[in-house]
Amino acid sequence: MTKPTELDPQSLPRHIAIIMDGNGRWAQKLGLIRTLGHKAGVDSVREIVRVSRKLGIQVLTLYAFSTENWKRPKDEVSTLMNLLKTYLEKEVQDLCANNISLRCLGQIDKLPPDVRDVLLRVIDDTSKNTGMVLNLALSYGFRSELTKGVQEITRQCLEGNLSVDDINEETISNHLYTAGLPDPDLLIRTGGESRLSNFLLWQVSYSELYFTEIYWPKFREKELIDAIKQYQVRQRRFGKTGEQIKKQET
Ligand code: IPE
Ligand code: IPE
Ligand code: MG
Repeated sequence: MTKPTELDPQSLPRHIAIIMDGNGRWAQKLGLIRTLGHKAGVDSVREIVRVSRKLGIQVLTLYAFSTENWKRPKDEVSTLMNLLKTYLEKEVQDLCANNISLRCLGQIDKLPPDVRDVLLRVIDDTSKNTGMVLNLALSYGFRSELTKGVQEITRQCLEGNLSVDDINEETISNHLYTAGLPDPDLLIRTGGESRLSNFLLWQVSYSELYFTEIYWPKFREKELIDAIKQYQVRQRRFGKTGEQIKKQET
């Protein structure tokens, strides 16, 4: 097994975002029902949260349910919601023991009331933890996030609290769910698709993208470390030349 020590601790991504895809196909390939794939996916969530914390990642954002996922069959949606509730109920102690603070990106008000109550309770119970931020993207979609942000900014302008000329990139960042957090350095998508599916489209402008064929239930410690290793050999230029970056590093 790959050891975490093989990573360069000086150049870890501060923020890792993951599109956890491929639960259904993993299950179907084994002749199982899709929902068993979601169940197995929860074990990957546990492991990836634990390993990220151990490595010293500051922010981990997991795409768990999109605004578009409400269109799935009712049974599947309700299984996902139940799994989420159970995960949160079981995990709160571990999150606290590991100094992890939970936050939610997305339309909390669209979640079933019992799930929302548990979620808000865990967010509150873990709010003072400082070791790592775990963002769960739930009923999340970037277009809806941006729309909400534009509404808030417009309202401030109309109420005379903000001038149109003062709107800048920071204003927009501050009106997204991720306000105050660094942008993802590394975006991972499991399950073989090469698309972003409405995930953090503003925030990933300069993220390193890592697509893997591995289905989410099979994405564990070794796979995360492989992704970070790949990240560590890339040169992030942010528009500059390679030579400029090398000079900066020396
Ligand atoms: C990701 O796995 C979980 C959610 C989107 C909720 P999928 O359920 O999308 O799995 P595939 O893509 O159908 O295999
Ligand atoms: C993206 O997966 C959303 C989550 C992982 C929660 P989907 O399976 O919903 O994405 P598409 O529909 O294939 O693009
Ligand atoms: Mg999918």
